[in-house]
Amino acid sequence: MYQGTILKYSQYLSVNNQTPIISIHEGNTPLVPAPHIAKLTGVPGLKVFLKIEGLNPTGSFKDRGMTMAVSKAVEKGAKRIICASTGNTSASAAAYAARARGLGYELDCYVIIPAGYVALGKLSQAMIYGAKVIQIEGNFDEALNIVKDLSAKYPIELVNSINPYRIEGQKTSAYEICDELGEAPNYLCIPVGNAGNITAYWAGFKDYVSNASARPKMYGFQAAGAAPIVKGHVIDKPETVGTAIRIGNPASWKQAEAARDESAGLIDSVTDEEMLEAYRIIHSSEGYACEPASAASVAGLLKAAKQGQIMPESTVVCVLTGNGLKDPKVAMEQSDFKSAEIVYKADINEIAKALSLSSVLKA
Ligand SMILES: Cc1ncc(COP(=O)(O)O)c(C=O)c1O
Repeated sequence: MYQGTILKYSQYLSVNNQTPIISIHEGNTPLVPAPHIAKLTGVPGLKVFLKIEGLNPTGSFKDRGMTMAVSKAVEKGAKRIICASTGNTSASAAAYAARARGLGYELDCYVIIPAGYVALGKLSQAMIYGAKVIQIEGNFDEALNIVKDLSAKYPIELVNSINPYRIEGQKTSAYEICDELGEAPNYLCIPVGNAGNITAYWAGFKDYVSNASARPKMYGFQAAGAAPIVKGHVIDKPETVGTAIRIGNPASWKQAEAARDESAGLIDSVTDEEMLEAYRIIHSSEGYACEPASAASVAGLLKAAKQGQIMPESTVVCVLTGNGLKDPKVAMEQSDFKSAEIVYKADINEIAKALSLSSVLKA
């Protein structure tokens, strides 16, 4: 029986027989072909796959790192964990703390989030899993500074991606991709916020693929309004519809640049319009629900293809980092919301008319 990423890949992770494994059987997420997106790139013979990380237990890739961070915190005897979050980290930390409590450990979870910028689905997850949620007048970067200071001053384990076990756990997605494809893809397209995930994937590919020339080029994409790595300076007031990557001073900035440079990849930005266009394509043509920030990977692929940065006959994996159900507000705004607001009489003729069925009567 599949029992989560730690047991599956323990030889690559800092765990031993004494480590209490706090798992919700995360990982093992689908890698699905995306033929429509491949066609849209216009690149001959291109194979595109989507790594559906939104199908992790709390709906995002964060669970891979959180199973490690929380297991190691419990191993060390921690009684409290804390994180700053744009939403998904808080949902994940809260869930793994709940799981630890269910297994008999004492573990409180505190989360600090930017008020007004966390999708309702994510906030509600952190709350129902029993975290103490603190909203601040400030952005993610300010929240991260606060949790760093709090964990330095009080006995609280920090579980943001500056915790090395988070990055270690997130490497497992790269292992899964290689296992599934039988080799590494040529390109890995991924959204970049705090830059922990791109760092983790690159470390994972380096662990798993000994031949350096067989590793993928890492293509990271920031939102144009929150693109410090692309612009080369901190963004004080980052803005984007992809709230998960609304980050102006990424903690793993240097590591992301190393992943880009060592893999001969790139870190570019996509506009909110490009992200939302990709978001609509992923939903309406591939049938998967992702959140807006996740669509940066596909938007980035389409942009890179247009600029001639994707070779024919190659294989691309786009990481869909979070589940679309977390942010129903954006989904409503991006769809035919007006028609869904009309309420019809429960009458077959009225409904057939509304569906314009008169021209397709059965013979
Ligand atoms: C859905 C989603 N996508 C992408 C990211 C960016 O990941 P990272 O901060 O590791 O770059 C996040 C981070 O919160 C996220 O929640």
